[in-house]
Amino acid sequence: MDDDRKLELSRRGLLVGSAAAAAATAVPSAGTQATPLRPNPATMPVSFEVNGTRYDLDLDTRTTLLDALREHLKLTGTKKGCDHGQCGACTVLVNGERINACLSLAVQHSGDAVTTIEGLGTIEQLHPMQAAFIKHDSYQCGYCTPGQICSAVAVLDEIKRGVPSHAQVDIAARPDPSDAELRERMSGNICRCGAYSNIVEAMAEVAGART
Ligand code: FES
Ligand code: FES
Repeated sequence: MDDDRKLELSRRGLLVGSAAAAAATAVPSAGTQATPLRPNPATMPVSFEVNGTRYDLDLDTRTTLLDALREHLKLTGTKKGCDHGQCGACTVLVNGERINACLSLAVQHSGDAVTTIEGLGTIEQLHPMQAAFIKHDSYQCGYCTPGQICSAVAVLDEIKRGVPSHAQVDIAARPDPSDAELRERMSGNICRCGAYSNIVEAMAEVAGART
């Protein structure tokens, strides 16, 4: 037998042997219990308040807060943009602080109070920030707007509480709602339509910096 023929035969032998080994691993022998290819996901009970209503859920531990809100509670006002913490479309308030709901697991929020855009105001009685966004035309397609509004509400609260930002020259000074402050603090909320200047106008009015 020449060398090429020997090589071909040994390759075929290797492939046949590998296939037999794989089959032996995947197929259980007679009388044994078949192992599920994908085990059931681990779930955990979690209870939290959303917009003043308490919810008791049993969730896959990998469920993000964003998916819990949108898919389980059907609160679809909170938007999924990037799902990677880059756009801010999913911003909600948790115990008054803004967070990206796509970066947080729902089971981390047992006992927390979550506020989404649906809980800020009603059609009959808009939150002042919602009314200001309408007045100043602070959106175009509106996809980023729920996150922008939740973030804007939290920003003004941060300024009121004296939480410093990178825009401050003097970190110890009390922050004010200047345009530079507002822009810096809103920099995690991206708007593909480019409504930034109108968003600042709305925020400045609610902050009392403009009329
Ligand atoms: S969807 Fe959460 S930051 Fe983009
Ligand atoms: S209004 Fe369209 S992305 Fe902001």
